[in-house]
Amino acid sequence: MKITDAKFAGSCTRVSSKPKRRLPEFAFIGRSNVGKSSLINMLTGNSRLAMTSSTPGKTKLINHFLINDSWYLVDLPGYGYAKMSQKAREELRQIINDYILGSEELVCLFVLVDSRFDITRIDLDFIAGLGENGVPFSIIFTKCDKQSAAATAAQIEKDKAILLRDWEALPPMFASSSEKKSGRGEILDYIGTLLSDK
Ligand code: GTP
Ligand code: MG
Repeated sequence: MKITDAKFAGSCTRVSSKPKRRLPEFAFIGRSNVGKSSLINMLTGNSRLAMTSSTPGKTKLINHFLINDSWYLVDLPGYGYAKMSQKAREELRQIINDYILGSEELVCLFVLVDSRFDITRIDLDFIAGLGENGVPFSIIFTKCDKQSAAATAAQIEKDKAILLRDWEALPPMFASSSEKKSGRGEILDYIGTLLSDK
């Protein structure tokens, strides 16, 4: 899968006001600051498409990006940012849930997890909710440039073992670095396969 064209298509807080064209959607979720917006920029080869920040809580809306005039990448707000007010966190939770449970065009939700640390209880609870609601998902480990390949491989094995306490089978998994542009081919090929199955 090659991305030849990527453009911003709109922001919304409710799925009812997402872009009108009904096209397959691939969305990115995960804890605040895990690297969702950076990954979208890396995949599209446009470092200024989605807004990124070293301060958690940057993305507060559902942002659609039209790819090759035929499908969308969707940047979502992060969850689990402790320093946000309860009210702001609840609002983000509603935005995220409304989209994840309500978007009929969602083909796959990519759940991003920091490759350096054990997958958190917040991630596991979120993933459990996906299972309960039948939302198709994959996992992308982010920021792999911040440690050695061996450390990443060991952490992924550890996370697999943690996930297998709750799950009988593991979802597709990818390791990535937006900094080093690694994982790009694998993730785009996977999206291409899902698109050709449709
Ligand atoms: P919110 O929108 O706040 O939920 O965050 P986000 O998940 O969209 O994260 P964002 O892409 O804004 O990145 C957060 C910070 O991590 C930024 O300072 C990025 O430069 C940095 N970052 C993201 N991906 C990588 C990566 O692969 N490697 C390194 N070294 N830094 C990264
Ligand atoms: Mg973001």
